[in-house]
Amino acid sequence: MREAREFMKILGIETSCDETSAAVVEDGSRILSNVVASQVELHARYGGVVPEVASRQHLLSSLPILQRSLEEAECTLTDISAVAVANGPGLAGSLLVGVNLAKSVALAHNLPLIGVNHLEGHVYAHWLAGDIHPEFPLLCLIVSGGHTDLMLMNGHGDYRQLGRTRDDAAGEAFDKVARVLGLGYPGGPVIEQAVKDAENPRHLPRAWLKGTDDFSFSGLKTAVLHMVRDLGIMDDENTPQSSLLAREIAAGFQESIVDVLVTKTSDAARSHGVKQILLAGGVAANSKLRETILRRAPVQVLIPPPYLCTDNAAMIAACGYFRLTHGITSGWDLDVNPSLSLV
Ligand code: KG4
Ligand code: ZN
Repeated sequence: MREAREFMKILGIETSCDETSAAVVEDGSRILSNVVASQVELHARYGGVVPEVASRQHLLSSLPILQRSLEEAECTLTDISAVAVANGPGLAGSLLVGVNLAKSVALAHNLPLIGVNHLEGHVYAHWLAGDIHPEFPLLCLIVSGGHTDLMLMNGHGDYRQLGRTRDDAAGEAFDKVARVLGLGYPGGPVIEQAVKDAENPRHLPRAWLKGTDDFSFSGLKTAVLHMVRDLGIMDDENTPQSSLLAREIAAGFQESIVDVLVTKTSDAARSHGVKQILLAGGVAANSKLRETILRRAPVQVLIPPPYLCTDNAAMIAACGYFRLTHGITSGWDLDVNPSLSLV
């Protein structure tokens, strides 16, 4: 097997949900390429990700995306030191495409293979080309389509779960509420756009789950549904009109979810005496969340640029670099694990 070199280029591969992505990252921090092919248009007509459609599309896109990532990084596979791939959590069929591609490349070029937890990848987006570097102990709020996790991170690979969602994930709540309000898909970006000129957000409840660091968003989702019905904003076909009222409800929903995320994360940061808060995952792209947590948190908050918050392979390569430099690689029996957790 090839020696790990001083300037290591890691090839990252990410196919856990509906983005096919490949990236080349040098020394865990310098992005040489980060190519992302989104399947949003394919799934939009169904109002959510269709797993079978997603894995078929990964099959079609993965090789051309890998090729482009090498071209953009101006290198070939002979310049690569290791292959890192997200092997869970995610959709089984989608993960399988990425893991098999990574295995084939690593085997053919005699390279170390590194399985990366997709959620940990989101955290490692923070090590990519930022001016301010994370300092342990950290509090990580990971908010994605499938997870809402509050993690204490004491060092590389050293996590303790403080809290998690007991029902819907934050991103899932955005997606479901956008659907209820007839605003489209994916929920996060369409809600963020729709609320821009909604000056009177409707008040919606907050579930505090006091005494715990856990979250709950399904009650909020149901409250939106009741408000839509009570205010009679359904049209004749029983779908909500994209009215100012719908946008005001969306604004109230966004305020509620942001308030809960920021308040509970700030409280946990105080009680655990962390140096910084890291915001990670697709929902971290939300400008209301970014602006509110920066204003209200008791410690420094680090947030990657939006394109590194949503799924991408550079974050997988960055995490792979830290695994490799700590002597952690995977065997050829690396398998997908759709319900892989961080702790
Ligand atoms: O991390 P991610 O790209 O994929 C998963 O690992 O799930 O997160 C996707 C989730 C989706 O639920 C999407 O609606 C949400 O992140 N999201 C946002 C925004 N952009 C993406 N939520 C709120 N505001 C956004 N701007
Ligand atoms: Zn993700």
